[in-house]
Amino acid sequence: MKIGVLTGGGDCPGLNPAIRAVVRRAEQHGDEVLGIHNGWAGLLGETKSQPLTSRDVSGILPLGGTILGTSRTNPLRNPAHIAQVEQNMQNLGLDALVAIGGDDTLTVAAHLHERGLALVGVPKTMDNDVSGTDYTIGFNSAVSIVADALDKLHTTASSHHRVLVVEVMGRGAGWVAVVGGLAGGADYVVIPEVPATIAEICDHLQTRRARGKDFSIIVVSEGAAIQGVETHDDASRDAFNHVRLDRRNIGEIVGREIERRTGFETRVTVLGHLQRGGSPSLFDRVLATRLGVKAVDYIHEGRFGYMPALRGNEIVPVRLADAVATPKLVDPELYELARTFF
Ligand code: F6P
Repeated sequence: MKIGVLTGGGDCPGLNPAIRAVVRRAEQHGDEVLGIHNGWAGLLGETKSQPLTSRDVSGILPLGGTILGTSRTNPLRNPAHIAQVEQNMQNLGLDALVAIGGDDTLTVAAHLHERGLALVGVPKTMDNDVSGTDYTIGFNSAVSIVADALDKLHTTASSHHRVLVVEVMGRGAGWVAVVGGLAGGADYVVIPEVPATIAEICDHLQTRRARGKDFSIIVVSEGAAIQGVETHDDASRDAFNHVRLDRRNIGEIVGREIERRTGFETRVTVLGHLQRGGSPSLFDRVLATRLGVKAVDYIHEGRFGYMPALRGNEIVPVRLADAVATPKLVDPELYELARTFF
């Protein structure tokens, strides 16, 4: 068999271990692997790809990013592009394709599968918002980075008796904020799923001061909406029609308003793309390896239109169409648990 593999959407640590696992398992099956460059862009127009053998993936297990490159290209926006992907898969002689990506990339994969293409997905996104799987590749590495940052910010916040607002990624789901905040001992976490007002945040800070806590760390998801502060989205959108959340500056706006209302000296840290950089955590290396191996096994079983997913400690098949139907939001119980420590 000839198997293609691509990585699409925002990068994150763990993509390279997944690519390595696909190649190593495919070789065991006697397959050839073709690495497609830059996500779906590599299957449009003049294709960009490279053969991958175990020699090519040697040493990439601890490497962040993706050796194949990625992009937010969306072939579904143009019927001619869908046809190009189909034609190019044929021209390259691909019997099957492994698409490693988050909800956007997997939505494209689900659609192309419905049109008859032999596709298998692998769920990755530091946002952890793909349904059907407990964890996506990249999430554990991201929250480890957030927790490490909160540890560091604690010492400076306490030395200066300041409020520190920490903005983290998370478009519609606040997994990174809640789990990172739990692990790093945040004093308040604001996520898109749970409505918050600036008045209650400030009250909380004042109550903490009254209790003798003269510093606070507040974690805010970039996609959170907070009543009482105004944010503006600019006109730019990516190929999946998402607004640029980094341009909303929610952290900065909230920090300024906290200082104005409470008089507490406040500073803001935006963790941004640091959360997607560096070496994958051990958890992500193992998860990516297990999912990459299973993806190739699914191809050999003819289980197309599925992705391997982690449920408990098992890897189970989940239909791509189900995985992308609705985003996986933060479990209210988990948020309540985090509130115990506010
Ligand atoms: O991959 C998802 C994500 O991490 C979102 O949380 C964030 O809004 C977005 O990527 C930003 O991505 P980029 O700056 O690469 O477009």
